[in-house]
Amino acid sequence: MIEDRRVVVIGLGYVGLPLALSLIDAGLEVEGVDVSPTRVAELAAGRSPVDDIGDDRLRLALEAGFRVSVPEAASPAAADALFICVPTPITASKDPDLGPVRAAAEYVREHLRAGQLVILQSTTYPGTTAGPLRAILEAGGLVAGVDFDLAYAPERVNPGDPLSMAKSVPRLVGGITPASTDRAARLLRRVNDRVEEMSSADAAEMAKLLENIFRNVNIALVNQLALLCERMGLDVWEVIDAAATKPFGFMRFSPGPGVGGHCIPVDPYYLAWRAREFDFVDRFVELAGDINLAMPRHVVELVADGLNDRGRALKGGRVGVIGVAFKRDVRDARNSPAAAVLAGLAAHGARVAYHDPHVPSFIAADGASYTSLELPDLIAESDVVVALVAHRAIDWQRVYRDADLVVDTVDSSRGQTTRERQVLRLGAGWSGRP
Ligand SMILES: NC(=O)c1ccc[n+]([C@@H]2O[C@H](COP(=O)([O-])OP(=O)(O)OC[C@H]3O[C@@H](n4cnc5c(N)ncnc54)[C@H](O)[C@@H]3O)[C@@H](O)[C@H]2O)c1
Repeated sequence: MIEDRRVVVIGLGYVGLPLALSLIDAGLEVEGVDVSPTRVAELAAGRSPVDDIGDDRLRLALEAGFRVSVPEAASPAAADALFICVPTPITASKDPDLGPVRAAAEYVREHLRAGQLVILQSTTYPGTTAGPLRAILEAGGLVAGVDFDLAYAPERVNPGDPLSMAKSVPRLVGGITPASTDRAARLLRRVNDRVEEMSSADAAEMAKLLENIFRNVNIALVNQLALLCERMGLDVWEVIDAAATKPFGFMRFSPGPGVGGHCIPVDPYYLAWRAREFDFVDRFVELAGDINLAMPRHVVELVADGLNDRGRALKGGRVGVIGVAFKRDVRDARNSPAAAVLAGLAAHGARVAYHDPHVPSFIAADGASYTSLELPDLIAESDVVVALVAHRAIDWQRVYRDADLVVDTVDSSRGQTTRERQVLRLGAGWSGRP
């Protein structure tokens, strides 16, 4: 029985870095590889670029022998097992972009030797591991399942939630042969208490997409309900609170200005794209994507409505956005709906500024770049303040005490004392909360 002791992790971001550190904690010899020299330099200097991984933890790992290198300086041929944890983005026309996976696979192929185990961990459509990944690796002459093992094992990292990286979170794995599944599962059991072996890599890829699409679809459902509640004069937050008292068969999701991050807005398009190859249009998945993508426009409308209530126009209006990260308490602003909100406001002639304690600078969807203002300055210099992310580090009491007008898209006014027609709430309309 092969024991994998030396591991190379390719791609040291939100997924690869925690994996590498947990492998170190399990006593394995780990080398991390990243194409970004900046990323390698900051990691080598003990600065963690990832929420939920403290510098202390990274430094301990470096002291314990964790090596980080750019690809040219790494030694993948010396590894027993290699994990690929690179991004899987979408193109401008929302098709899967396997560019980084292909590049990483080509890198692995250059160094691949018989007896190694390759595990893809990036989120992707069913068929990637057994299709393009296998084809690229086998182009070097070795055969998957015969000369080397190949498996897919998705990640369940949830930025801002350190518990999502706990050993107790079960992992899924599916290999291209039972032997590959078994070997990958044995390695993963070094870092996770429970590893679920699946019948194929395709099934594991589909399970990961289901997890993320489940979130996207349910967020779309409550976003649409929010729009309806606004028209009906109902408060969607009250409605959701009430439904959530049901102790079974219901799971709480919250409306908001749209979805962001690396997974939720992207992964549905991986499935929709793959489905079309089977003459299957996944209308449900595409509809959810459309609803969530339209939310930033609705936020712009709410801001215009709020200003209109004060006899002002969006054009020339000073709009202060609070929060541009893709979700609360993280510094990750990738695919944040704030990018579309800021660009939409600017397109209507608004003068836009923002505050985010976790994101010092930000580029909007129109390419305009912004620098975070201090919260008191933002409030003082804005005709309307828009709450897009409910970071805990924000002094919400100050916001609701000092701002004349707030558009609240994330229920940040809950528990605050507010004045009559001070707050226009997504999914609820005007409210004063005495
Ligand atoms: N962020 C999450 O919460 C999360 C959760 C589960 C799954 N995933 C999935 O994991 C994958 C990685 O996501 P992430 O959030 O860690 O991305 P990330 O952008 O944080 O990190 C990816 C890293 O890979 C590096 N990289 C890119 N191409 C490379 C190459 N060819 N060789 C070596 N390094 C390369 C980048 O420089 C970057 O540092 C994606 O498929 C994503 O969908 C992400």
